[in-house]
Amino acid sequence: MLRGQGNKKAKSAEVEKQRFLGIQLVLYIVNMNSAEIRKRFLDFFRERGHTVVPSSSLLPDDPSVLLTTAGMQQFKRYFTGELDPIKDFQSKNTASIQKSFRTSDIDEVGDESHLTFFEMLGNFSFGGYFKKEAIEYGYEFITKTMGLSIDKVSVFAGDADVPADAESEKIWRALGAGRVDRHGREDNFWGPTGSEGPCGPTTEIYVGGVEGWNIVFNEYYKHLDGRLEKLTNPGVDTGMGLERLAMASQGVPTIFGTDLFSAPLIEPLRRRPEFRSSERAERSLRVIADHVRAATFLIGDGVVPSNKDRGYILRKLIRRAITHANFLQSFPEKVLASLVDGVIDVYMDCYPELGRKRAEIADVFEQEQSAFVKTYARGKKILEKKERLTGQEAFDLYQSYGFPPEVTYEFKPFDWEEFNSAKEGHLKVSAVGGEKKFGGHGLILDTGELKAGSEEEMKRVLRLHTATHLLQQALREVLGNEARQMGSDITPERTRFDFAFPRKMTPDEVKNVENIVNRVIGEDLPVKFEEMPKEKAEKTGALFFFKEKYPERVKVYYVGKTLETAWSKEFCGGPHVGRTGEIGRVKVLKEEAVGAGVRRIRAAVEP
Ligand code: SER
Repeated sequence: MLRGQGNKKAKSAEVEKQRFLGIQLVLYIVNMNSAEIRKRFLDFFRERGHTVVPSSSLLPDDPSVLLTTAGMQQFKRYFTGELDPIKDFQSKNTASIQKSFRTSDIDEVGDESHLTFFEMLGNFSFGGYFKKEAIEYGYEFITKTMGLSIDKVSVFAGDADVPADAESEKIWRALGAGRVDRHGREDNFWGPTGSEGPCGPTTEIYVGGVEGWNIVFNEYYKHLDGRLEKLTNPGVDTGMGLERLAMASQGVPTIFGTDLFSAPLIEPLRRRPEFRSSERAERSLRVIADHVRAATFLIGDGVVPSNKDRGYILRKLIRRAITHANFLQSFPEKVLASLVDGVIDVYMDCYPELGRKRAEIADVFEQEQSAFVKTYARGKKILEKKERLTGQEAFDLYQSYGFPPEVTYEFKPFDWEEFNSAKEGHLKVSAVGGEKKFGGHGLILDTGELKAGSEEEMKRVLRLHTATHLLQQALREVLGNEARQMGSDITPERTRFDFAFPRKMTPDEVKNVENIVNRVIGEDLPVKFEEMPKEKAEKTGALFFFKEKYPERVKVYYVGKTLETAWSKEFCGGPHVGRTGEIGRVKVLKEEAVGAGVRRIRAAVEP
């Protein structure tokens, strides 16, 4: 407990009176709704010289990370000194409320305080202020602006590479901190996992029984090999989950009791006639609430369900929500869709993209739901018939019917070891199949995307490859930038291009795309590439395919006279034709759906 400069000796009546008034004040300011908390947070930092920056998308620009996990991500280059905060924000200090997503917490969802999607309140300084101000801001905001008491704080204990953070401890002591714990790297050092970036010791503030605010002092840059390099300009990066703060402020025992969850998500489920309260049922409500909310935000930022990467995360969320809803609780199908609507209502003031995309979000959700519900019903029958379930059977249900194994387990327990070995066995079989398929074909070109077995075929594949780049740019001109590549496959006969887009294209749109491609072919523009570091390539505005993990140096292929003025630019390994004129006329053969929110175009070139 942290108590200002508390006087523990006998108190005069005057002190008692002030304390009483203090308590009244506390009761008045605690129990804030989340809109009020957001506002107070941003006002607090705005009044202290911070520029408020809007949340970035859940889909980061940085291809090395799948989803945005923290507020600092959009500011990475200000910490490293590559970008100038004064130029962009007119201040060295910023604050934001960032949409964030952590897959690492998915299995914890259902307890009191874990979520996949959450809003992160954060203040940042890029060489403006450091430990003293950052800690004092944290202290003042929690105890004064929020009227909450701090349970305890923690600081970095130090290890072989980085000294203990004695300075932070001293600052906390001067503020009257009752309990200052020291922890090692796991708890009090923050940095990127599996990638490179700014990092450093942290101090954490615990409020309402949970870890509330993480204040990171970015003193180092972590390189890919794990080496720490001192940053010339140390910075501050902080993050606090809005939901946890709301839980403390509203005095509820779980985040699901806060205004963000209770009225829009939990109560409508609990009031359903099918609902029978039990510990498992309560947990199911929380999983459904978290997953539906997270899925709504992911779709809102342009993710579509698929079997890879973020698309797979989204699919998994929707499937888990469905199995918890239908299977464990027997709620009818339409319930989830109505929750999606409820989420949008609650959040559209802060995140207007949700309101704008209401119909599209509902569509993607419902399409994925109806596709899954069919297979799922067949799997459910099989499962219900069984008295006991083996790990292999649980794996089959997962493999053939998409049943999330952890949900199956809640319905009928099975042996996890058996499940895991069934899974490993399956992976081995697939790998062997892969070798057989691609070995011994004598392909002269097989990049995974381009396949050709002879010189003749190779020429056609190159024409189609360049045509695919033109097709992508033309699609973006006609449909807008949300038409993002999801995959492509090129054979000597045709190119197949998958892209994210929520509806069928009209015949006019298809015709326009075809005309644009053929116009650019008619201009006989040069097709060239420049090789450069990935970071630099990103700044050229070239399109890249987010599913791929690009190496440090990449080629940017462009169509036009110079890279700056090029009409189409893409990260690409090549090869391509030398000039667009070599392609010949392109014809779009077909436009169709391949999944919820994903369209597929097939196109050919004239012989
Ligand atoms: N980057 C730190 C975190 O994610 C503080 O924002 O916890």
